[in-house]
Amino acid sequence: MKKLFLFISCCFFAANISAQSIVAETEIGDAESEVAQTQIAIIPEPVSLVKKAGMFTLPENVIIQAVKSVDLKQSINYLSDRITTTTGKFVSTVSNSAHPTIKLILNTQEDAQLGKEGYKLNVNPTQVVITANQPAGIFYGVQSLLQLFPAEIESKELVKGIKWKAPCVDVIDYPKLGWRGLMFDVARHFFTKQEVKQFIDDMVRYKFNLLHLHLADDEGWRIEIKGLPKLIEIGAWSVKKTGTFGEFTPPAPDEPRTYGGFYTQEDIKELVQYAQERFVNILPEIDVPGHSLAIIASYPELSCTPDAVNYKVRSGEKIMDWSRGAPPTALVDNTLCPANEKVYVFLDSVLTQVAKLFPFEYIHMGGDEAPHNFWEKNDQIKALMVREGLKTMPQVQAYFEKRVEQIVISKGKKFMGWDEILEGGVSPTAAVMSWRGMKYGIQAANDKHNVVMSPTDFAYLDYMQADAITEPKVYASLRLNKAYQFNPVPAGVNAQYIIGAQANLWTEQIFTFRQVEYMVYPRAFAIAESIWSPIEKKNWTNFVDRTQQHFKRLDFAEIKYSPAIYDPIFTVKRSADKQLMIELTTEIDGLDIYYSFDNSTPDRFYPKYTSALQVPKDASMLRVITYRGKQPIGRLISMPVADLQKRAR
Ligand code: ACM
Repeated sequence: MKKLFLFISCCFFAANISAQSIVAETEIGDAESEVAQTQIAIIPEPVSLVKKAGMFTLPENVIIQAVKSVDLKQSINYLSDRITTTTGKFVSTVSNSAHPTIKLILNTQEDAQLGKEGYKLNVNPTQVVITANQPAGIFYGVQSLLQLFPAEIESKELVKGIKWKAPCVDVIDYPKLGWRGLMFDVARHFFTKQEVKQFIDDMVRYKFNLLHLHLADDEGWRIEIKGLPKLIEIGAWSVKKTGTFGEFTPPAPDEPRTYGGFYTQEDIKELVQYAQERFVNILPEIDVPGHSLAIIASYPELSCTPDAVNYKVRSGEKIMDWSRGAPPTALVDNTLCPANEKVYVFLDSVLTQVAKLFPFEYIHMGGDEAPHNFWEKNDQIKALMVREGLKTMPQVQAYFEKRVEQIVISKGKKFMGWDEILEGGVSPTAAVMSWRGMKYGIQAANDKHNVVMSPTDFAYLDYMQADAITEPKVYASLRLNKAYQFNPVPAGVNAQYIIGAQANLWTEQIFTFRQVEYMVYPRAFAIAESIWSPIEKKNWTNFVDRTQQHFKRLDFAEIKYSPAIYDPIFTVKRSADKQLMIELTTEIDGLDIYYSFDNSTPDRFYPKYTSALQVPKDASMLRVITYRGKQPIGRLISMPVADLQKRAR
């Protein structure tokens, strides 16, 4: 065994290999000396990882040595908490020690390669050293270090009987892009301050550094604004409904409006600080002029439509007709009125306070999916068009966006909007968040606008990630492998204007925080790696291996995730003689699919799928399950034949 180990370590020693096939052996002389194998599985994949011989073991007394400990207090606290909670080891922090266990070093001489967020992590048999130019880099080094320990390190409680070992490595790592975001829609459904903190805790494990909070929409206004009390008295509350959002029956006038909530200004300050301590900026979004029904229900005078006095915050009933595509036709006017000066006074008050509460340099002002059909009929809008020489509705919206940008700038902030702000003429200083694919982002970057890429095709986490039969119904799908193909800096783009990328979690169909996590993970792994890691380092097979390692970590951390990669994918066709043909595939390799048509639950002694299935004449249900070897791994999926028939049409 010893000889074998020496041979293996000679081959691997100092070789700069990716984590792809790395297996770390137990130390020489380890009493049990069995081949306890530890796969290195860091997400996002580091720029460079060199596996060295040996293992580091956490001692009973862990001494963290940090020279500039004031600057590093967040990382020290975070690391100490994580170690103490799970391992029960005693952790102390010193500025100098003869034998520190973990050294955190801020470079006095800038290491240009690392930039603001990069780090070097050296794990040796008796010591760990993390160096960085800035505290954020140390924090990311800590995240990578924790991912080297056994998965149990993620636990929320003391875990006994584990050898707290990490493989020896030299890591050099830094991000591709500086804006690595997740958008969390807290407007469609309200999520508590504690849940937002949990969202932050989850995202920083994967080196995300920006939380985009979607704070206002038709279904709710979520932030206290002094002097505008109705926003939280009326705008934050709807009628509680359960089922499929968008298809709810319109609420009766007497139904209690008690569903929702808002963050007080003190809550916001607490969240901003909580995020900052974890190197996360919060980008506030106030979505206008569309998506504004909660504002209008609170202050109907901000609408162009007199009937707005009867409007209520949306409770998931139908308010838009999308049958003719985007922009939709509004059934109720959910827009602020660009021709009404009171709107700009209102936005000035809101933005004065929002700008003070959120230290981040940008404020996102929405601008997406604003329906224009009520404006088209409105005399105030017609008069505005004459006065300002505006010819089209997109030009009316562009007039609005420019005025809003001026307000944002007057508060010392930069203006950002969804890519619809490019229509009708955009100001040269506006930053663009590209969501309707990448093309608007590419166009905007080439026109020298700062751009954040968050295209539906790769980065919409509200889309279904498994077969519709297992998911709350959403109009589109995004599987993990597609999310992993996200390249936020595509060929031909003026790359210096791509300031970042993010994934978006809209929450129309998400009623609980457990479902939030299920929708975010594991797709956020794919997004994190697409934004952080060099494109040459991305490898789907290797990523799937690491993702499965992280499923164990999420289990210990009690974070919900989707196991959709283990589910079979159904494709239906009609043969030449009109027979229904059902093809079953899997998103990842190495799985076997077993099935039944007799309503019983299949296991691995049932027929194994090998080629397209035909439905027996009177069968009404296809049940399938995947196995890896002898272990069931996928969910049992029961698919009505009638459903497959519909899909084949
Ligand atoms: C969006 O998804 N409407 C920005």
